[in-house]
Amino acid sequence: MGPHILQLPEEILLLVLSYLDGRTLGRLGQVCRKLCHFTCRDAVWRTIAKRCLNSGFLRRGTDVLMPWLQVDGDVLYFTQAEEIRAHHLRADGGGLHKRPFAVFLGHQEDVCRFVITDSHIISGGGDGKIALHNLHSTASIQFTAHEQDVNCVDCHGGIIVSGSRDRTARVWSLSSTADGRWLHTIQTEDRVWSVALSPLLSSFVTGTACCHHTSPLRIWDLQSGQLMNCLGTEFRRGAGVLDVCYETPFIVLSCGYDTYIRCWDLRTSFRKCVKEWEEPHDSALYCIQSDGNNMIASGSSYYGVVRLWDKRMNQCLQSFTLSSPTSSPVYCLRFNTSHLYAGLATSLHRLDFTVSSYPFTAM
Ligand SMILES: *[C@@H]1O[C@H](CO)[C@@H](O)[C@H](O)[C@H]1NC(C)=O
Repeated sequence: MGPHILQLPEEILLLVLSYLDGRTLGRLGQVCRKLCHFTCRDAVWRTIAKRCLNSGFLRRGTDVLMPWLQVDGDVLYFTQAEEIRAHHLRADGGGLHKRPFAVFLGHQEDVCRFVITDSHIISGGGDGKIALHNLHSTASIQFTAHEQDVNCVDCHGGIIVSGSRDRTARVWSLSSTADGRWLHTIQTEDRVWSVALSPLLSSFVTGTACCHHTSPLRIWDLQSGQLMNCLGTEFRRGAGVLDVCYETPFIVLSCGYDTYIRCWDLRTSFRKCVKEWEEPHDSALYCIQSDGNNMIASGSSYYGVVRLWDKRMNQCLQSFTLSSPTSSPVYCLRFNTSHLYAGLATSLHRLDFTVSSYPFTAM
């Protein structure tokens, strides 16, 4: 059937593909290289993404929550399309105050990620821009940082690192961003999904798609922008790294499409991870966070599954399903010893570890 399908005019083929669900498209993409190329197009998936978002679990009219959040004291910041909203958490533990006390604007398309410093929110958007929002005045400046979506940003000690779909990562100085000039541009050969700056500001790590370059985890020198090391060997094609963080200056945690959480010790051999944990249901892992001690939380790609891991154990300690039966990835999560906040495609959830009977709620 392959050759016949490929003889169809492109717009007819697109029409046919628009009737298929994600799983079928995935299978079709495995038939041959040409179909793979076709089914990988954003245009094909955009329809499916919209369908998912409209499949009945939108909670507030046309509002579409998107996937990134941060907690700072009693404030929860989360993205909602091209905005970042700040809500106070209620002192009684009952969730969010309904109205945001601040809304940060500046992107023309969805905000992909943001980080919070003492004075600013730094966000990357689908419009290729980085925006710097003053936390105290909501004034913002933005500049074009990349040719395509800024998938990820990190900021620390006056340095910003950004990673983009355009297959570059860039290093910026916070004080001279106004002229839109970067300190380094790094060609990663693959889309960049995640970045993290070392707490010592000596290096940063990029998590990339693992399509053209065989190492999806690379460490770069911050001063020179030169490659220092590739972490690990024998990643399978497509084993893209979706989230990465420095737990300490020497310990890096990563997760992604190959369903593993990995722990890397930069003081030992770069080629081998010191410990790994496998997602038991073979789902990609979209996000991780560590408490800096023994606990790691991960967010899976299906059914809003959040898992807690104890680093001293090989198996997952506990898991929670936040969105059954409607499937959504957990795009982002934040936790401490009493609470966990998770961002799904169109809803926010809170886990309260101090309540044993029914610890999770949609917010
Ligand atoms: C965890 O974070 C939430 C939100 O910031 C806060 O209300 C709570 O007190 C924190 N718990 C602990 C044990 O620090």
